[in-house]
Amino acid sequence: MRWMVIGATGTLGREVAAQLTARGADTVRTGSADLDLTDARAVASAVADRRPDVVVNCAAWTAVDLAETEESEARRVNGEGPAHLARACAAAGGRLLHVSTDYVFGGGPADSGRPYAEDAEPGPRTAYGRTKLEGERAVLAALPGTAAVVRTAWLYGREEGGFVHTMAALAREPGRTVEVVDDQHGQPSWAPDVAARIIALGALPAARAHGVFHATGSGRTTWHALAREVFSLTGADPDRVRAIDSSRLRRAAPRPAWSVLGHARWAAAGLPAMRHWRTALAEALTGVPHPPTAHSAEPKGL
Ligand SMILES: NC(=O)c1ccc[n+]([C@@H]2O[C@H](COP(=O)([O-])OP(=O)(O)OC[C@H]3O[C@@H](n4cnc5c(N)ncnc54)[C@H](OP(=O)(O)O)[C@@H]3O)[C@@H](O)[C@H]2O)c1
Repeated sequence: MRWMVIGATGTLGREVAAQLTARGADTVRTGSADLDLTDARAVASAVADRRPDVVVNCAAWTAVDLAETEESEARRVNGEGPAHLARACAAAGGRLLHVSTDYVFGGGPADSGRPYAEDAEPGPRTAYGRTKLEGERAVLAALPGTAAVVRTAWLYGREEGGFVHTMAALAREPGRTVEVVDDQHGQPSWAPDVAARIIALGALPAARAHGVFHATGSGRTTWHALAREVFSLTGADPDRVRAIDSSRLRRAAPRPAWSVLGHARWAAAGLPAMRHWRTALAEALTGVPHPPTAHSAEPKGL
């Protein structure tokens, strides 16, 4: 079985490709320098030449704020690129697993309290979200019954960079305090867990593994509580993390107040929901997957 990982130089794509390689899978990996997703002809011939059984699309324009002023460029990668890829897969007979985002939902405070189901009505409020939704729709329309859209959120990888590792670095600076927003809710998702989940889907027959899935950590938290957990796991005093309101931070693209995704559809694929975000975070930072500690009330069944 041959896999092709598009966007294999990014946080998630690197992890998907590494796990496939570690399992001895025949894996073709591409970054933007090898294959530009916006080039329909190049995409068609890359897929036709390599004939992958499963294509995993981790490539995206992920500069959320910049997309507000460069929406047409973001659309070329996030909307049109997946459409080229889906057509190429349809022509060559391969399956497509396409990664998407919580930003396809409105994420407004009015939605708070209930996780977004996989079939909840999208309503993006940012250019990034709009372009990613176009990509999702193009993929599902071109490959009905075989393609999967895998939405993730609050993604962090093994390496330095990103929110979690930045907080861990700040925690190691003696006496350093940080201010973090406490009015945005979501589900931290460790790239190795998301990658394993994508690979598990690709290994299943398409009949059981098509449609929309939410690959986010179970439970939920806020950025502030996440930062406190990172400080605790790093051996630093979590009270060095101060809570602030989102209105203190000016961003070109509004950040969702509510990014909690439901996990009910995993049952259709015969898979459990992903593990609790806190268990994964402990493994990411200490190498040991501690079970979650219950110091915040979290809804069950996510
Ligand atoms: N990061 C998050 O918190 C988060 C949250 C929710 C959803 N997601 C979704 O998860 C997926 C992976 O995100 P990530 O954080 O791993 O992304 P990332 O680290 O920013 O990597 C993006 C990847 O896309 C590739 N790429 C960009 N433009 C391209 C083009 N024109 N043609 C081909 N490849 C192109 C990049 O290639 P080069 O590096 O070679 O240029 C890179 O491999 C995306 O679908 C994203 O929307 C991410």
